Amino acid sequence: MSSKVILQVNELKKHFNLGKGRNLKAVDDVSFDVYQGETFGLVGESGCGKSTIGRTIMGLYNRTDGQVSYGGKDVHELDEQEKFKFYRNMQMIFQDPYASLNPRSTVGEIISEPMIVHDLYPDKKKRMERVYQLLEEVGLNRDHATRYPHEFSGGQRQRIGVARALALDPDFIIADEPISALDVSVQAQVVNLLERLQEEKGLTYLFIAHDLSMVRHISDRIGVMYLGHLVELTDSDSLYENPKHPYTQALLSAIPIPDPDVEESRERVILEGELPSPIDPPSGCVFRTRCPMAMEACATTKPVWQAVDDNHFVACHLYNDDIKDKTPIKHKPKQLN
Ligand SMILES: Nc1ncnc2c1ncn2[C@@H]1O[C@H](COP(=O)(O)OP(=O)(O)OP(=O)(O)O)[C@@H](O)[C@H]1O
Ligand SMILES: [Mg+2]
Repeated sequence: MSSKVILQVNELKKHFNLGKGRNLKAVDDVSFDVYQGETFGLVGESGCGKSTIGRTIMGLYNRTDGQVSYGGKDVHELDEQEKFKFYRNMQMIFQDPYASLNPRSTVGEIISEPMIVHDLYPDKKKRMERVYQLLEEVGLNRDHATRYPHEFSGGQRQRIGVARALALDPDFIIADEPISALDVSVQAQVVNLLERLQEEKGLTYLFIAHDLSMVRHISDRIGVMYLGHLVELTDSDSLYENPKHPYTQALLSAIPIPDPDVEESRERVILEGELPSPIDPPSGCVFRTRCPMAMEACATTKPVWQAVDDNHFVACHLYNDDIKDKTPIKHKPKQLN
């Protein structure tokens, strides 16, 4: 991983207008950088806005506010020619490797398609050579080119998706839950494949998952999302060993840690209540309605994104020195009137 920032997401908002004055805040004020050659993991439970971030970074959704810059250029301001080039450099792999592959096309056609669109390898024979090479790179073989997606297992289909994403020789891949739909035994194989390709090709990954245990191994750094907001961001080891945000602590509580000393000493955080709607999110800190540590300030003031350590960021009033009274509301005596 280099120290060069390749992707910058700055105060990004993506709101969906649902009509009748209702506005769904799928992504709200999210900022993070991705360094060239790293794997940046993005985690959070279903509906917190992970895919929306991925799609807005790709320019598949217009942003509501904020910026996404790739290689120093705002991706929502690109002209047609720049956009074309951008789509060569940035590719996506999807969760469902069946729905994302056209069932009526052969594997060879599926992998060739981006090359035809981008007018790479106009000579059919050379193009097919490239298809065979890509199939071999992802652990399949050239005979698979004439077969159809339904003839493959889930893991093999995901390999086809990876080969298609590699067809244009991109620098950056957004992998949106690429292993969530696969059997546990196959997940590791796909992760190993992605890691090997990263090493060989110097790829940068944005790796989206809903489960922290899935991203730890593959990610250099991890951002944790809750209800459209980024709540914590640091390198993988710090996140696991020293989580700061009560939401991250709760997510980690749900997975066992193999080290018995750590397992013994850590505190469990159990989340109460339902996930609020992004149409009508809580005031102040969006996590406060489920946070065991919520205090009065959490209802009135939005927490700022602050550094708590080198390369460790969190949005939580527990770490805000300006707030003096940090007694959790649930421990305060009820006021009598
Ligand atoms: N095109 C859309 N129109 C309206 N609302 C949308 C649209 N796409 C997503 N949403 C809403 O935005 C929020 C975030 O959705 P998103 O798909 O980004 O979540 P996610 O974190 O990827 O969830 P999952 O883990 O289930 O894939 C959800 O409330 C979702 O219903
Ligand atoms: Mg998603």
